[in-house]
Amino acid sequence: MKSLDRAFIDDLLSRVDIVEIIGQSVQLKKHGSGHKGLCPFHAENTPSFNVSSTKQFYHCFGCGASGDAIKFLREHDGLTFMEAIEKLAKIANVEIPQLYNAQSNNYKNLINVNNTACERFKKNLLKSTLAKEYLYKRGINDEMINLFNIGLASNAWDDLTKLFTAKNQIKAATDTGLIINKNTKNYDRFRNRIMFPIKNTSGNIIAFGGRTLDTNENAKYINSPESEIFHKSNEMYGLFEAKSAISKKNHIIIVEGYTDVIALHKNNFNNAVATLGTAFTKNHITKLLRYTKNIIFCFDGDDAGKKAAWKALENCLTEIRDDTNIYFTFIKDNMDPDDLCNTDPGKFKDILESKISLSEFMLAKLQLGLNLNNVEDKTHFVNTIRPLINSIPDGLYKGFLQDEVIKITNVKKSLLTENIQKNRTAKSLNNDVGISDILICKIFIEYPSLIEKYGEKIIKLVSNENIIQMLKLLKNMKSASGYRLNSFLNESEDIKNIFLKLDSSKKTYESIKSAELTLNDMLSNKQKSSDENLYHIVLKKYTDNKMLTEEEKNILKNFKK
Ligand code: UTP
Ligand code: MN
Repeated sequence: MKSLDRAFIDDLLSRVDIVEIIGQSVQLKKHGSGHKGLCPFHAENTPSFNVSSTKQFYHCFGCGASGDAIKFLREHDGLTFMEAIEKLAKIANVEIPQLYNAQSNNYKNLINVNNTACERFKKNLLKSTLAKEYLYKRGINDEMINLFNIGLASNAWDDLTKLFTAKNQIKAATDTGLIINKNTKNYDRFRNRIMFPIKNTSGNIIAFGGRTLDTNENAKYINSPESEIFHKSNEMYGLFEAKSAISKKNHIIIVEGYTDVIALHKNNFNNAVATLGTAFTKNHITKLLRYTKNIIFCFDGDDAGKKAAWKALENCLTEIRDDTNIYFTFIKDNMDPDDLCNTDPGKFKDILESKISLSEFMLAKLQLGLNLNNVEDKTHFVNTIRPLINSIPDGLYKGFLQDEVIKITNVKKSLLTENIQKNRTAKSLNNDVGISDILICKIFIEYPSLIEKYGEKIIKLVSNENIIQMLKLLKNMKSASGYRLNSFLNESEDIKNIFLKLDSSKKTYESIKSAELTLNDMLSNKQKSSDENLYHIVLKKYTDNKMLTEEEKNILKNFKK
């Protein structure tokens, strides 16, 4: 995303009509200043999916799905970023070649050095009996070595450094992290390690994971660092190799390590993938759900494994639809899928069969150590499970899960469905954020052009961290076609909520002039606390018999000393 010229993307987005694009797959009706329809991202009977052609973004008040035309094509039509860009460019009848080529050349350079390195690693492996024996002993045979393009980083510190001599190659190898530059000297990042190339879903090598052969080495595995082509919280090891089996078998097995994926693959569980030493994220689940709706997580049965499983569960909730089936299974005795397969592949089959569903895992985990006949425990249970269930989009699944909680606790449905979490964010915007912070943010959202002139000075008057962050972001949102405010939707939940709330509320000032006057007044009175300052400004206006906007009347009404 970052790699394509932002100005080009902004321009492209301004040339297409999001209503028309979404209208091809969702029936939209005019509603107020925008359009409304049934959300394609979750099951619903009354429309809460809004599309704004003036702001060029969509937002669902039911499930929170939101974004611009590119995001819609990616999430709804399953296109890649580049495919979405190409589709939009076709509709808008604009050419992408120049910018695209300039950027994709860099992309190609990075992929190319990774390919060259991969070939070198493979050659190194062929030459090393020691490394080959290590792999064979671990059950990794030639077929797997070839399929996963496994190699060896030699024990020298300059194997790749010597290989890459052209200037642009050195730069690319440094960008992908194969070469490290320290005190003007270059050296290889990976030394004496079995190398596992990490591929994207098109099969291009975007990074490497390296396992040490040295038992005294502290870091068992090291990965390539994040780069323009590698974002580890989006990628899954083995997905390229598993893709076709996943669609045939219609389910995915998620494990924790590289060698687990390989051992499973060898034993016909060729639909297994792994995270890259990171937690399982929401990006992962969104990505995997494009391939199949049936997912089995396989974790270590110890405390750390249970914790990781719970984290994965939390990250899945917002993506659950009535047709998704997510399961969890745990391996005991400090074994991993690799160990199991190497002793007896049948044992892994048993592990899969002992899987429990997400709802079972959730209900069991939260009841652990509680006695639901006891009022205190019951209260605690309902209070912890409620926000989790509430983050699941509306649908049958959510309803049945609520029924289950009602069955075991007898809680009233209204008490369970009440979205305390939501109320809290709504409240926090009015109670925890100062009135002047809100007004400042509102003004800049309505009149973003004021940010250049006032941004830096006014930011000193703001105390809420989220709003400070938003004002900083605003500065970078300028594009040829104006300010791309909907980029706020890609930020944290808090920022997204603040933006949506402020954006859909009434205008503060009808003209940019009066907005500017207020900002000027705030700046010239800045010695007082900013809320108090604002209050006095408005009070003066009032006592001077000037017209007050609705916003200003609220400030007088709500100000607390
Ligand atoms: P494990 O420690 O379970 O290793 O880490 P493993 O997969 O069983 O490896 P072997 O069998 O000893 O070779 C699981 C995953 O966590 C990441 C790697 O992605 C690994 O596959 N990891 C682990 C790291 O990134 N760094 C480490 O130092 C260790
Ligand atoms: Mn292992």
